[in-house]
Amino acid sequence: MADPVDEYAAIADIYDAWCLEVVEDIPHYLGMAQGSEAPIVELAAGTGRIAIPLAEAGYDVIAVDPSDAMRERLRLNAAEAGVLERVEVRTGDLLAPGVEGAYDRVLIPFRSLLHLPDDAARLAAFGAARDLLAEHGFLAFDVFSPTPEDIDATQGQWYHRDSGAKERADWHRADGTTRIEVEMRGRTTTLILHPVPAEHWLRLVEEAGFEVITAWGDFAGGPVREDGTGDLVVIAQRR
Ligand SMILES: C[S@@+](CC[C@H](N)C(=O)[O-])C[C@H]1O[C@@H](n2cnc3c(N)ncnc32)[C@H](O)[C@@H]1O
Repeated sequence: MADPVDEYAAIADIYDAWCLEVVEDIPHYLGMAQGSEAPIVELAAGTGRIAIPLAEAGYDVIAVDPSDAMRERLRLNAAEAGVLERVEVRTGDLLAPGVEGAYDRVLIPFRSLLHLPDDAARLAAFGAARDLLAEHGFLAFDVFSPTPEDIDATQGQWYHRDSGAKERADWHRADGTTRIEVEMRGRTTTLILHPVPAEHWLRLVEEAGFEVITAWGDFAGGPVREDGTGDLVVIAQRR
């Protein structure tokens, strides 16, 4: 199996430029933080795309990521934004975050759960998130599964983003994975993702001891597609 940590090491220094256009989730996760009395825990925090706006809004954040290169970039970004003292950067992964305590919010933004290869890993990750939450605390995450339209329009084709990145997706491989190749400023990587339909995620998160409070098909609160593909934005409460 490809190692997501290595996959990100290759692109840590272009990740922010690559994701420059991805902003629609930031208000959602800022809204999720409201009312929390404890630090916000972000798992798979990457370079701080969400953690830093949270810190800028005045929240203390525990930002966990397994990739040395991504955490190093997160520290640099937080220092540059003047919020390093509000962001505690930790080494850990979704299955073993390496954080103790009971928090009010655990966030897993931007499809990071798609790095997990199977239901055992998905359930273990939801279990680890649950262990970090106080009773009635909230888990918020988003995931994605390619729509038939995505597949028809872009399968196997190089796509040029405004950021200057080139991407090519093989959405449905024989083993059920999606393979995304990224090229930007001389950096290249291949991400192997494991999408499953919306109802599958919802069943697993309930099985892990959560009640699903909202399940949207986008960050504006639109419906989940009937075929279970597309975006899935979930807020779940620890039972
Ligand atoms: C798509 S990025 C998301 C980063 C950030 N949350 C954001 O919204 O920009 C995925 C992140 O997941 C991390 N990652 C990959 N596999 C992981 C795992 N098993 N556990 C935790 N993080 C993982 C990578 O290092 C990377 O930083």
